[in-house]
Amino acid sequence: MKLAVVGGGSTYTPELIDGFARLRDTLPIGELVLVDPAADRLELVGGLARRIFAKQGHPGRIVTTSDVDAGVADADAVLLQLRVGGQAARNQDETWPLECGCVGQETTGAGGLAKALRTVPVVLDIAERVRRANPDAWIIDFTNPVGIVTRALLQAGHKAVGLCNVAIGFQRKFAKLLDVAPGEVHLDHVGLNHLTWETGVRLGGPQGDDILPKLLAEHGDAVAEDLRMPRAIVDRLGVVPSYYLRYYYQHDAVVEELRTKPSRAAEVAEMEKQLLEMYGDPALDEKPELLAKRGGAFYSEAAVDLAASLLGNGGSPYQVVNTVNNGTLPFLPDDAVIEVQAAVDGSGAKPLPVPRLDPLYAGLIANVTGYEDLALRAAVHGGRERVFKALLAHPLIGQYAYAEQLTDSLIAHNREHLAWA
Ligand code: G6P
Ligand code: MN
Repeated sequence: MKLAVVGGGSTYTPELIDGFARLRDTLPIGELVLVDPAADRLELVGGLARRIFAKQGHPGRIVTTSDVDAGVADADAVLLQLRVGGQAARNQDETWPLECGCVGQETTGAGGLAKALRTVPVVLDIAERVRRANPDAWIIDFTNPVGIVTRALLQAGHKAVGLCNVAIGFQRKFAKLLDVAPGEVHLDHVGLNHLTWETGVRLGGPQGDDILPKLLAEHGDAVAEDLRMPRAIVDRLGVVPSYYLRYYYQHDAVVEELRTKPSRAAEVAEMEKQLLEMYGDPALDEKPELLAKRGGAFYSEAAVDLAASLLGNGGSPYQVVNTVNNGTLPFLPDDAVIEVQAAVDGSGAKPLPVPRLDPLYAGLIANVTGYEDLALRAAVHGGRERVFKALLAHPLIGQYAYAEQLTDSLIAHNREHLAWA
């Protein structure tokens, strides 16, 4: 089996490699290609990747290249985990929206739109190359904003599934609190990428009893603390929002907080410097502790599970993924991309049925889906007016004057990445 990782020079990659090494029975990789335009990073990350494989006795070969076409040739699956413009561009996304009193975040609000506009054309170009090299290859997209990027891929007819670690993070957290094996915990997970709620927690599978009320009664404080939200929010909803809902439920408080401290991008850039230095040490042969300070916990497990199922190698029968709605949430267009539990196998991901959703969640999901549709149009076709309309449609922006100002800021800060600007 051959896998390619585009954005393989990411400082996150050792997390992925560690998972590939530990879970090699689930996903027997013969060759792993790390593809990245940054040759210097690739060398450091590739070196550590080989040492991790060697230490754990993984027989697979690790190849590095900056040539996408060569890297994806013959791959059975291609993981996309790239970041156009790097942490510098992210730093902008997290900063200029604050001038309007709007949240500055890499995937939510105006910053997320900027990221989508930079990213979608690049991802579509890579996906075309993947399809040319092997029309049967699966694309697993980790590249943010995952919902919009996955929708772009599916709309262009690619064999793609989008993946995020939020759900697996909850699964692991709840399993620990309940003192059961992670595989025992089945989440009723619903929404859009980075806009989800756990509406039920079942033991044993989708038909298991819902123990969410008990979980909240016994461990409500621990759950709320992890979300950095007051427990009252969780108690009154009776469901568990993802921590990205903080940007909605506590928007103004988050903006105040963001104004008083360095951006997450600045923190991450500092960590990346240290990580790359560590990766260059030939004595290091495991993922360093420092990596745990990044947001990507368990993403390797999620990737292995999904790749194993898509490549017909076992893997969990149900997984939380980003895939096409097709009537699952009847209040959304069929071609919207949603993040839900799906049955996953070699033919792809098919959402499990979702019971009728409370308007408290359905309303926001519908609103953000409208935004995502407009955001994708802006990313594919370009143009100031399309950017403006996507911003006006976003529930965290909405006002004409803000949408105008943010459109100008977005374009000014991203001109070098936008072919049409
Ligand atoms: C979580 C999200 C990812 C996001 C990451 C950011 O894992 O699910 O989509 O990329 O956090 O983590 P960072 O350490 O870069 O802030
Ligand atoms: Mn994510």
